[in-house]
Amino acid sequence: MRKIIVVTGTAGTGKTSLCSYVVRKNRGWVHLDLGKFAIDSNAVIGYDSIMKTRIVDTSVLKKALRKYILSKLGEDLNLLIDGHYAAEVSPAEYVDCCIVLRCRPDVLWHRLRKIKGYNEEKARENVESELTDYCYLNAKKYLKKVRIIQLDTTRKSIKNLYYRFMKCYKNDFKCKSDEVDWISYFSKHSEKLNLIFR
Ligand SMILES: Nc1ncnc2c1ncn2[C@@H]1O[C@H](COP(=O)(O)OP(=O)(O)OP(=O)(O)O)[C@@H](O)[C@H]1O
Ligand SMILES: [Mg+2]
Repeated sequence: MRKIIVVTGTAGTGKTSLCSYVVRKNRGWVHLDLGKFAIDSNAVIGYDSIMKTRIVDTSVLKKALRKYILSKLGEDLNLLIDGHYAAEVSPAEYVDCCIVLRCRPDVLWHRLRKIKGYNEEKARENVESELTDYCYLNAKKYLKKVRIIQLDTTRKSIKNLYYRFMKCYKNDFKCKSDEVDWISYFSKHSEKLNLIFR
């Protein structure tokens, strides 16, 4: 394996869009979508009908992921591990970099509401995770010695995000994070949250 990259972030920040773009444009990259991988590795233990989401046993997933990575270590590939809980289940000692995708919560709200199957409650829960830096804090907690880079997707097309990502990759991930501070943003623009938290 050349590089193992965790791609995490709140639902709707564009993890799968970015990873799909990367594998479409480059040879030797593998996209591991943890949602699908959880099904394939029998880590799904139920379904939350209110949140319309699968319940995953993270310890089963963690073991399956480690096994998968060990089986691929000798191959000349870059691996993208895509999931909002990717930081939590990835074996830190093999991870080269963690990318945390971010999106300004009010913009994320509109993105999520456009997706079929996204009710207000589910969208609101994700907006709250984004506001409180949930995935970023989890990345710091679980991937202590790993380089963590935050990329803001708010005003970026998937193509622009792809170029930004590849530039980082080619620089061996020695690139700066985008500035993310939603709390100070909304302290000045609190009206933008009215629609979401009515
Ligand atoms: N940079 C972007 N700008 C605008 N819309 C985007 C961007 N990236 C993704 N989207 C749109 O947002 C939606 C969610 O994207 P995507 O499925 O890639 O997110 P995800 O982070 O993989 O979410 P999940 O955690 O639910 O799998 C899609 O409709 C996609 O087209
Ligand atoms: Mg996805």
